[in-house]
Amino acid sequence: MRTLAIVTAILLPLPLASWAGDGDAGRGEAAFVSDCRRCHKDRTAIGMDVAKIPPEERVATLESFLAGHHTREADRRADLVAYLVTMAQ
Ligand code: HEC
Repeated sequence: MRTLAIVTAILLPLPLASWAGDGDAGRGEAAFVSDCRRCHKDRTAIGMDVAKIPPEERVATLESFLAGHHTREADRRADLVAYLVTMAQ
């Protein structure tokens, strides 16, 4: 029984961690206002036409660019990416 409790304690955070990786567009909008707007007037002024990127590559393209561009925290980056990709929908 004790082993089961330990295994559960180890495995339980895993699905939560991957779920947290999915960005929240609402939080991304707030992050854009605070972190990006001083240089990009709004999300259409980022110099990248998200709609022209193939849909399956959008998240990866933005993620990898933003990792080296004013967005170090992974959670915040995921939120920003979620916000930016909604432009193309
Ligand atoms: C200090 C000013 C500054 C801030 C803050 C800033 N950017 Fe930029 N951004 C730029 C400049 C200048 C460019 C164009 C040159 C380049 O690609 O680095 C750019 C380019 C981009 C591009 C286009 C890249 C490409 O290859 O076409 C994206 C997307 C972008 N920024 C998103 C963001 C987001 C999202 C934020 C907020 C987290 C942000 N930027 C914050 C100055 C800034």
